[in-house]
Amino acid sequence: MWFNISTNVFDHHHHYMFFLYIVLFVVFVVVDADDPHNHLTFSVTYGNISPLGVNQQVILINGLFPGPDIHAVTNDNLLINVFNHLPEPFLITWNGVQQRKNSWQDGVYGTNCPIPPGRNFTYTLQVKDQIGSFFYFPSLGFHKAAGGFGGFRIVSRPGIPVPFPEPASDYTLLIGDWYWYDHQHLRNILDRGRILAPPAGILMNGYGPNGPTFRVEQGKTYRFRISNVGLQNSLNIRIQGHTMKLVEVEGTHTVPTTYSSLDVHVGQSYSVLVTADQPASDYYIAVSTRFTTPVLSTTAILSYRNSAGLASGPIPNAPTNEIEYSLNQARSISMEGGIWTPGSRVNYNRQDAISRSTVQVYPHSWTAVYVALDNVGMWNLRSEIWARSYLGQQFYLRVYSKVKSTRNEYTIPGNVLLCGRAIGRRI
Ligand SMILES: *[C@@H]1O[C@H](CO)[C@@H](O)[C@H](O)[C@H]1NC(C)=O
Repeated sequence: MWFNISTNVFDHHHHYMFFLYIVLFVVFVVVDADDPHNHLTFSVTYGNISPLGVNQQVILINGLFPGPDIHAVTNDNLLINVFNHLPEPFLITWNGVQQRKNSWQDGVYGTNCPIPPGRNFTYTLQVKDQIGSFFYFPSLGFHKAAGGFGGFRIVSRPGIPVPFPEPASDYTLLIGDWYWYDHQHLRNILDRGRILAPPAGILMNGYGPNGPTFRVEQGKTYRFRISNVGLQNSLNIRIQGHTMKLVEVEGTHTVPTTYSSLDVHVGQSYSVLVTADQPASDYYIAVSTRFTTPVLSTTAILSYRNSAGLASGPIPNAPTNEIEYSLNQARSISMEGGIWTPGSRVNYNRQDAISRSTVQVYPHSWTAVYVALDNVGMWNLRSEIWARSYLGQQFYLRVYSKVKSTRNEYTIPGNVLLCGRAIGRRI
């Protein structure tokens, strides 16, 4: 079944971009194995930090901003007990995790009752037949603007081949636009019917300008798992003097392609390999906004062991408004662009389009997505531009089977929180 999601349907402001989050599934062969159980505890609190030089309230997980990285192995069962110490309801969603037969754990308002203040809920999910780079984030209200997000990687089981050599190190790099206001302030602006001003800056792993340092050794190759955890801006990333080999997109290994800069749209995750093949020194890692005026940018550092000196010289340029550049990159990984007519269908990429959870729609463009509705449950489709999602550019798609069986869908979990008209019901 083909869905055509054109910007006309969802978006009358043609000059903005639209991002759609979809839950896409691939069918894998199931292999019998021990599926270990990992118990994690998330303690959710407010904290105060000043990543852009202005003290502000943020959401911490276990005292951290961003929250801790989740490291899982394919088929692991994760039991994540989330304690909500905020004075308002809270939910976490696991962006890109397929939740097979298990929309009960998706952590969005249509499938989970919010965790009330002072209460906890244990998410029980299996990362069934998945590998790849993902992230989690708070899904209610405008919490995402305050943090509460973190990396979520699923590595292959031992003995399952990965199409590239083991990197010397494997870094999570969460990039995103950032406001210096707290989430209540931003939500109040939207609730009053106003639009948000452009963000104040970009954070990399929670750092503002002169961001984190990633240490490398000459001759070795490193993996960076890059996710755009921001609210609205598409971001471009590049490393001074180095190229990036794209090897994975949201759980699919790609035919490796080398880029000097890469666009990462809101909600998307990519893995790139970077070889430290330059003279031992420090180099800028630059991130900047796409399609915006003015352009926001920030830097981090790639630092060689025995570096000869600090990063210097021009910060590498990025494309800013050119769509052609982005379309080319996108075509090579997942989609076609242009002006849609029914005749466009003949040019759909049915050969090597990859499976992913978040696709971009460029200004004055369209994107066609193919969805195999093979996972029974209630699924959230949404704009990843968070103000729009908050204001209602989202809906639920129920994938239904007449046969009620745990072969198709798990039963409602025993620890389910009830709310609204379900309060007091027996499950
Ligand atoms: C809350 O945490 C306790 C353990 O501290 C656990 O037994 C209980 O199941 C959790 N509640 C929910 C709703 O998951």
